[in-house]
Amino acid sequence: MIPPKTVRDILDAVRIEEVVEDFVTLRKRGVNLLGLCPFHNEKTPSFNVSPARNIFKCFGCGKGGDAVTFLMEHESFTYPDALRWLARKYNIEIEEVERTPEQIAEIQFSDSLYIVNDFGLRHFQEQLFDTDEGKSVALSYFKQRGLREETIRAFGLGYAPDLRDLLVQRAKAAGHSLDLLKKVGLCSADGTRDFFRGRVMFAIHNMSGKVAAFAGRTMSSDKTIPKYINSPETEIYVKNKTLYGAFQAKKAIRKQDECILVEGYMDVISLYQAGIENVVASSGTSLTEGQLQLIKRNTANLKILYDGDPAGIKAALRGLDLALEQDLNVKIVLLPNGEDPDSFVQKIGSEAFGEFIVKQAKDFILFKTQLLLQETQGDPIKKSALIKDIMGSIAKIPDPIKRGVYLKECATLLDASEEVLYAETNKMITAGLRKKAEKESRQPGAASDSPAAHPSPDMLEPNIAVSVRERPAQQGDEYKERHIIELLVKFGGSVLQNENISVAEYILTDIEESLNAFDNSLYGRIAQECYALLLDHKVVTQEHFLRHESKEIHDLAVDILADSSRWEYSPNWEKKGFPLQNQPLPEFNFDKETREGVDRFRLSKLDKLCKSINPARIKTADEAGDLINLERFMRIQKKVQEARNDLAKRLGRVVI
Ligand code: CTP
Ligand code: MN
Repeated sequence: MIPPKTVRDILDAVRIEEVVEDFVTLRKRGVNLLGLCPFHNEKTPSFNVSPARNIFKCFGCGKGGDAVTFLMEHESFTYPDALRWLARKYNIEIEEVERTPEQIAEIQFSDSLYIVNDFGLRHFQEQLFDTDEGKSVALSYFKQRGLREETIRAFGLGYAPDLRDLLVQRAKAAGHSLDLLKKVGLCSADGTRDFFRGRVMFAIHNMSGKVAAFAGRTMSSDKTIPKYINSPETEIYVKNKTLYGAFQAKKAIRKQDECILVEGYMDVISLYQAGIENVVASSGTSLTEGQLQLIKRNTANLKILYDGDPAGIKAALRGLDLALEQDLNVKIVLLPNGEDPDSFVQKIGSEAFGEFIVKQAKDFILFKTQLLLQETQGDPIKKSALIKDIMGSIAKIPDPIKRGVYLKECATLLDASEEVLYAETNKMITAGLRKKAEKESRQPGAASDSPAAHPSPDMLEPNIAVSVRERPAQQGDEYKERHIIELLVKFGGSVLQNENISVAEYILTDIEESLNAFDNSLYGRIAQECYALLLDHKVVTQEHFLRHESKEIHDLAVDILADSSRWEYSPNWEKKGFPLQNQPLPEFNFDKETREGVDRFRLSKLDKLCKSINPARIKTADEAGDLINLERFMRIQKKVQEARNDLAKRLGRVVI
């Protein structure tokens, strides 16, 4: 137990920003600091840290609290462990009172897994450094591969002698449970044999430096023995969310604002030793979304070092569209034939290596274009496939400005018209969004709180340079539907100036004809319910939603209402206790917002009618030779188009 006075000392010393900055890159924004939230996946930062109040708050996912809460959430620490971590950081000594048996029993399961792994680490290190066999066999192996002792220690390298059950016996003697040893994979399933035998050992750390797993490498060059064997996945080791070396690299990645990605354990260690510390490995597999998110939290710049043949590289490039989706800037460095980062840095030295990877770095898209272009050689069919492939990558980039730059460059490289490339990418963006929306509508509930259901407008904006400026129908509608629902929840009962009717009445009577045409079923349900309330002469109030018996609707209302009180404080205002908002409070703006919201909603429904529903009807009638309907639908089309253009003009949109 930690004595209460020590707890106070720790809490007094803690600066929230110093703690959070160990895990999240923060930038100054007014009196607060802002970064990408580590608790949910986001592309634009909504994670706020307030040094003045010593707390954090994410406006994306709602998580918030003090430094202790942060550590408990982020590192899955228990309360005492969070305090211990802080005490270490701030050099505060804890004189802990002996733990009672109950308290020991209370230690969380994952903690106990870490404890067993820590025992394993110390065992392997002891075998490496303190036994004759370890020194002569394993330590000499590492040294012969160019590693210095400090590096070997920094990465938790070790040795597992080729003995049946040395680790099992010693762990039992030290009071560790066999079940836990099995669970983390340090012994066989029946508990009679060590899992790692006759191998040099690599500890795999989590982001805060605890040992999550191990890998063991054979020292033999016999090709029939697996080169590496690895711990199984457990509660504390999720492979596709782990990057080897990330703990050691974290600081350097932030400082250099770049992450270097290599393939192997040895590559990471070797580069780190050479002073290139911002390096991590994906451990031989292709990058996963979880791993990319880890990177994204620390930097937006990713440099991937490849060794190997063009065919292998081509396959690897395919996986990189995921990185573009995360809005990472990806660069590629090809190493000379036959060299991996480890061998190459040992060969030419750290300085030359550093220069090499700066000079040779090529932008991923341009690299891919050039690589594939070599193969098309005047074959138009191959070339058009290539264009599709490249445009597919470009379509994944969320930032339209960045996309535009790439399209320009690729047009030159591919000797194709920029217009055509724009059109092609926009088609793909639209198709991608439609797919995503379909996927979301198939998962009920997911739509209401996932960021994709309420995307930032620039995610959805196809390139402006195209002549047709069109939002993808389905996703675009959901966005507008959400706006309508927000207006209903926030101001449904408020009365519009000059009209003398409530916001709910204004909205619902205006969109009556589309009440059944909501793309998002939850939003549709809410709109219909409000309509029923009005028919019943009832007022639509915030309380109605907040006390709603449907949890889905209740949660959505909380989400909407919480979102309206933003967190911007000027130092002066804060002193006086007044929140200062850089926009007029939405409460004072609902007149204009309501009218525009309704117009935008109707515009998108009309758009749909005149761009897809009606043309389809016209086509069917035409094909069937049904002249009466053909004439009728054409007339409707003309009317709808006029109404649509009127509305668009009112909204200041381009009329097509
Ligand atoms: N790997 C693995 N299991 C294998 C082979 C490879 O898990 N049987 C993973 C390891 O993470 C390894 C990475 O793939 O680090 C890259 O493989 P490789 O280049 O063969 O290994 P290196 O790390 O370069 O090891 P070394 O230099 O010692 O050969
Ligand atoms: Mn290697």
